[in-house]
Amino acid sequence: MRVLVIGGGGREHALCLGLSRDPSVTEIVAAPGNPGIAAVARIVPLTTPLAVATDVAPDLVVIGPEAPLVAGAADELRAAGFAVFGPSAAAAALEGSKAFAKDVMIAAGVPTASHRVATTPAELAAALDATGPPYVVKHDELAAGKGVVVTADRDAALAHGAGHRAVVEEYLDGPEVSLFCLTDGATVVQLLPAQDFKRLGDGDVGPNTGGMGAYCPLPWLPPDVVDEVVKTIAVPTVEHMAARGTPFSGLLYVGLALTSDGPKVVEFNCRFGDPETQVVLELLDSPIGELLHAVATGRLADVGPLRWRDGAAVVVVVASEGYPADPVTGDVIDGVDDAASVDGVAVLHAGTALDAGGRLVTAGGRVLGVTATGVDIPAARSSAYDAVRRLRIRGSHYRTDIAAAVPS
Ligand code: AMP
Ligand code: GLY
Repeated sequence: MRVLVIGGGGREHALCLGLSRDPSVTEIVAAPGNPGIAAVARIVPLTTPLAVATDVAPDLVVIGPEAPLVAGAADELRAAGFAVFGPSAAAAALEGSKAFAKDVMIAAGVPTASHRVATTPAELAAALDATGPPYVVKHDELAAGKGVVVTADRDAALAHGAGHRAVVEEYLDGPEVSLFCLTDGATVVQLLPAQDFKRLGDGDVGPNTGGMGAYCPLPWLPPDVVDEVVKTIAVPTVEHMAARGTPFSGLLYVGLALTSDGPKVVEFNCRFGDPETQVVLELLDSPIGELLHAVATGRLADVGPLRWRDGAAVVVVVASEGYPADPVTGDVIDGVDDAASVDGVAVLHAGTALDAGGRLVTAGGRVLGVTATGVDIPAARSSAYDAVRRLRIRGSHYRTDIAAAVPS
């Protein structure tokens, strides 16, 4: 089958690599793609999702990022007769509106932090005082991972919420886990759990980012936790979305905190996580194209149990100078081939471009996701950092503690 992938970040590079290993996939087209994706896919400009799909005539369209999903790209493509992996705008509101997601969780009986919605400074102040520190304040809109502050400083919490419709939440304490659940609106099939490192700096300090690294699987996670999350969170959410007439089909990203009261939802996203996808898909042995096509055509129940490779995967994100506040672009990227020559390493492109002279340059905040597999997490980690050290990008930075302290 011919697959069209919409998007051009690290997640889409991982999806395209996975698709390239699926024998049922005969051609991959990516819009707008990136220079790394160009090694496995035909790159076309992203005019509009509908215009590209009409031109390419794919058997399956995979929509990677949340913005087109929230804007209704999947609805438009389905109406035109395409098989689409990705939820409708009404279902993508699980990510597009924190307040809507909270309403769904409450209606579905899904464990999550208690919350209040504030639209004025007075409501915000009252919500902060009712909740108490540490304060969690989220903008009620898409914000690429940057709409949330967690702070003990009441003034900073007030300042973050000012001028936005804000959701103030109870603080959830405990390790975070990302669990990706494929669903066609009825059947739910979970992938391996992963852990993401959201803060900019070593030791989990500094601002939240889109994610600075990840690893998979989680050797410390008791196996029954995943089953519990599927049963108490993913399935009730999918059932509730179907019952309210807005079935969710695509990938339900369940972001969890494992609290002393059990797993609770920190956030839902309506698409594969970035950079967790880079590690989860490295370990997936089942053909991803067939899986995504089964989701898109409502046949997920027919897919047998997923197969996974042994071992572990680690991704370290290399970011450009100034990320996340103000990323500098246009810096030359050297050393990619050397980094990719490390055993078990794939250098996945996120914010990269070719300049007028054909040189690879930075074109976004998160530039590369250096992904490595190994027999275990320490082995994968060591290969990933070996590769990262071979890259030369002026002003770039990365965390040095991704997957460093993983209990076994
Ligand atoms: P979100 O965009 O909702 O995923 O939030 C980004 C990050 O902020 C999460 O990954 C957590 O690290 C942190 N966060 C969000 N909500 C909470 C919460 N209720 N309690 C503690 N930390 C949170
Ligand atoms: N890595 C977090 C996200 O994709 O939202």
